[in-house]
Amino acid sequence: MKILAIESSCDETAAAVVEDGRRVLSSIVASQVEEHRLYGGVVPEIASRRHAEAIVPVVKRSLDEAGLTLSEIDALAVTYAPGLIGALLVGVNFAKGLSLSTGLPLVPVHHLRSHIASNYISNTELKPPFLCLVVSGGHSHIVMVEDYTKMKIIGRTRDDAAGEAFDKAARTMGMPYPGGIALDKIAEDGDPHAFRLPRPTVHDAPYDFSFSGLKTAVINLIHNTAQKGGELNKADVCASFRYAVVDCLCTNFIRAAEDLGVTKLVIAGGVSANSLLRKTLSKECARRGWEFYMPEKSLCGDNAAMVGAQGYYEYLSGRIADSDLNAFATMSIEE
Ligand code: KG4
Ligand code: ZN
Repeated sequence: MKILAIESSCDETAAAVVEDGRRVLSSIVASQVEEHRLYGGVVPEIASRRHAEAIVPVVKRSLDEAGLTLSEIDALAVTYAPGLIGALLVGVNFAKGLSLSTGLPLVPVHHLRSHIASNYISNTELKPPFLCLVVSGGHSHIVMVEDYTKMKIIGRTRDDAAGEAFDKAARTMGMPYPGGIALDKIAEDGDPHAFRLPRPTVHDAPYDFSFSGLKTAVINLIHNTAQKGGELNKADVCASFRYAVVDCLCTNFIRAAEDLGVTKLVIAGGVSANSLLRKTLSKECARRGWEFYMPEKSLCGDNAAMVGAQGYYEYLSGRIADSDLNAFATMSIEE
């Protein structure tokens, strides 16, 4: 079954053709990041307008690169929540129009579920049940994936998402948006033990995260040193901060797996590209004899191939949109 998938939840306009949820026939991603960088973050109104401009050429290219015409597509899938509402509406309305004109069924896909599904492409043998750490710019969740379309939230952040914390720390050090990737690179040359940063926990919720205190601690360290005219070793700050975030993520994730008796662990979302997170969990899972899966780096960020992968399983479970499908800025992954 060939699914044409569309993604426009944030600042990437993307389209892909995916066969049977696992094989990518084409994947096109048009990023707006250069423009948003001028403002230090995503400007929602600009994002919506750029999606409106890009969506037709991006979808056409995805069909061209797959060597297919619309008549050879079996279903459409589109991200409908969560995300920037104006951005989501561009993809959703375009997909609804395409569904109306072609008669193809339209499958609505939750953005975080699609991040998890990027793993089905990179690891074709992977099947639920498994425990997944979903870490992106807007969310940090520990999710029990009981089946392809049945999920339960085990832990979540109480304030900032891990990606948001990385981006804000990076911005304070003058790195362009989104700074998480640059911070990760610079951290490779630093000492993770150079600065002692807090590991905030949430009382009575051992699987929940809190990153705002950690973010404030690193920002204060940078500002206080600058005010005193001192100089910090940037690589050491990056390495210490990355180590603290990854430590918080891995501690709760591994504890949840132990408590639930799950031995198959998976990571997903933009932050799953983080080199220390990948290395640490690979090592910790190998040490315990657990299975560990991660998406290839090119599928960690927003793309439409993952929407086509999850869309296939949503389709099999009978989730087909009505003509009044809407987009939603927030929605639980459990819905
Ligand atoms: O999943 P994603 O592409 O978009 C959302 O759905 O939010 O995640 C983007 C986030 C950004 O905060 C970005 O800085 C972060 O993922 N990110 C990283 C790395 N690569 C991307 N954070 C840390 N280390 C990385 N290597
Ligand atoms: Zn995302």
